[in-house]
Amino acid sequence: MNGNIIVNKKNLIHNLSEIKKYTKKSKIMSVIKSNGYGHGILEVAAALKDSDAFAVATIKEAAYLRKCNIEKEIVCLQGFSNIEECVYCSQSNIRPVIHSLKQVNIIEEAKLKKPMKVWIKFDTGMNRLGFKEMNLEKLMNKIENKIQPPVGIMTHLACADEENDDFSQKQIELFKNIIKNTEAELSIFNSAGIIKYIEEYHDLGDWVRPGLMLYGVNPCSNDKSLNIKPAMSLTAPVISTKKCKKGERIGYGHTYEFIKDTTIASLGIGYGDGFPRELSNVGKVFFEDNFFNIIGRVSMDILMVDIGDNKVDIGANVELWGDNINIKEVSDLINTIPYELMCGLGERLQRKYI
Ligand SMILES: Cc1ncc(COP(=O)(O)O)c(C=O)c1O
Repeated sequence: MNGNIIVNKKNLIHNLSEIKKYTKKSKIMSVIKSNGYGHGILEVAAALKDSDAFAVATIKEAAYLRKCNIEKEIVCLQGFSNIEECVYCSQSNIRPVIHSLKQVNIIEEAKLKKPMKVWIKFDTGMNRLGFKEMNLEKLMNKIENKIQPPVGIMTHLACADEENDDFSQKQIELFKNIIKNTEAELSIFNSAGIIKYIEEYHDLGDWVRPGLMLYGVNPCSNDKSLNIKPAMSLTAPVISTKKCKKGERIGYGHTYEFIKDTTIASLGIGYGDGFPRELSNVGKVFFEDNFFNIIGRVSMDILMVDIGDNKVDIGANVELWGDNINIKEVSDLINTIPYELMCGLGERLQRKYI
């Protein structure tokens, strides 16, 4: 018996329309990289068909979408890395992000049949991708004849989802300086940026780039302004139940001792499915109005929960995160982020779409 990733397509659609209400006139580049944050890239693309574009990380992801007949504009956030990929982008309506001098050289050299749409990325403090010192006018002079206007100019916020974010304002000011006197399309805000800054800086948000919030997870812990709903539930089947006595221990390394007689259920999911081993003795699961603690170590294929006096049948499906267990709270427990939990789910799990 397998664990399941249940993806609620209605909630994806609902979340996109909530974001549209919130961002008003901005165009929406839905970020569906890494297999749609683990939800299944094609199904997510179909559900989010009312987006203005899709964003993926790599050319391989973009090419997969094209192969599967997705026709909408695709933004490739890492852009091309050689002439062949550059030409492929221009032929396939893939709008690459140009973030390095190497890519400028490639586009200068590439023989393109027609000018291509591009985004240019500036680094305003993330220190990951993007031009730092480059003057926009100089850069445009180099590649102007290869690109189709309007050029897009973007940057990425490093700390927007931090509770005490005192860095985004600096990035925004720097960005404003870079784009002075341009006719460019602008993009700066990811999910947390949308929640915190779009109202004040609407003029910088021709395009917004929501990822996490589309999947119904709010990156800002205390924010209640958006009515988004989780698109993913992770469930696992009960494969065995048994009685255990006070003083007995459970699982690898015997890390948990029963303080009274109880019943445990073994669930068919483990770290081999991407369910984090760090949740051993820490996490909980949900079944029919009850929360049960994970006890003992999470193993490769199985984890155990204490069901006390409750009756849970073999074959029943238990929620590990979803409508009743907030994935953000699960990730907080083990000092990670919902992105890592969603994207880390393994091939053995079955995706079901409702
Ligand atoms: C450049 C860029 N923009 C937007 C996003 C979407 O971010 P989020 O999922 O926080 O909305 C990402 C995600 O990592 C990104 O790398």
